[in-house]
Amino acid sequence: MRHAAEVVKQGWNPAARVYESIGSDFFLALAPGWLNLGLWDGPGSEDEAEEACKRLVSTLASALPRGGVVLDVGNGLGTQDPLVAEVACPRRLVAVNITEWQLTAGRGRLREAAAAPVAGDAARLPIADGTADGIISVEAAFHFRSRKAFFGECYRVLRPGGVLSISDISVQRWPVTPAEVVSALTQLRLFGLRRSMAMTAGQIAAAAAAAGLADVEVTPCGERVIGPALRLTSARLAGATAAPFGGATAAPPGQQAAARLLLRQVDLLWRRRIVDYLLIRATRPSG
Ligand SMILES: C[S@@+](CC[C@H](N)C(=O)[O-])C[C@H]1O[C@@H](n2cnc3c(N)ncnc32)[C@H](O)[C@@H]1O
Repeated sequence: MRHAAEVVKQGWNPAARVYESIGSDFFLALAPGWLNLGLWDGPGSEDEAEEACKRLVSTLASALPRGGVVLDVGNGLGTQDPLVAEVACPRRLVAVNITEWQLTAGRGRLREAAAAPVAGDAARLPIADGTADGIISVEAAFHFRSRKAFFGECYRVLRPGGVLSISDISVQRWPVTPAEVVSALTQLRLFGLRRSMAMTAGQIAAAAAAAGLADVEVTPCGERVIGPALRLTSARLAGATAAPFGGATAAPPGQQAAARLLLRQVDLLWRRRIVDYLLIRATRPSG
């Protein structure tokens, strides 16, 4: 109910409200504990779902320097942190999340990853200057108050030569038709997003460069992320596949109907190439 109320009037921490409401057994999560859309090799089958979620995280983590101090910003339920630890072998891993409830819910996984939980905002990282060798952020930057502020914080917190590796969602053009406008606005409100989250891939790259980050590489990959995730979720809602948590059709009918409507909206935004999915890598220049 609180989440629904915030669709009308947003509070001071809309992202936390969204993720508290989603909880740890979200019936549309691709695999238990994971809240990303996956990086898929196949078309979006149930068999590949967990592997795709892991592949996205390990692809991003493999860009980090090994053996250093690593920040995971927006770490969700912590499911990704043991994998980040396995791939990047950090000497210290710090998980920063604005949703304190998720840090508590994920404490077992954080312990497994030897990660220190820190409640904080990506746009004002509670971390000292020049102390991190790598920053990873999986599918969270579109939530941040300002990407400009986030990239500025990454520049400040990374040591010279440190690496930033994130995935993000871009908005490639403004919605034009009534269906596009309604879909875009509903998604913004539902996910507690500000209009300033709507940036093209080029604008996001320019914001990283303007913050002082160098070698900014942006790889659009919506075909391997949004497309397959939508196909699997639609199949689940149609009851055509046996999904985790008893399957989507085990959810209350009202939630299923809302999910179908929202999925149609995301599908429209994706098919018309209004949104895309990006892998982004950048470094803080040395010297
Ligand atoms: C889509 S979820 C992704 C979670 C996780 N990375 C995954 O892939 O499973 C977005 C995450 O970003 C976090 N988040 C949103 N805004 C944030 C902010 N300003 N600072 C830190 N974390 C934030 C949310 O609490 C949530 O954990």
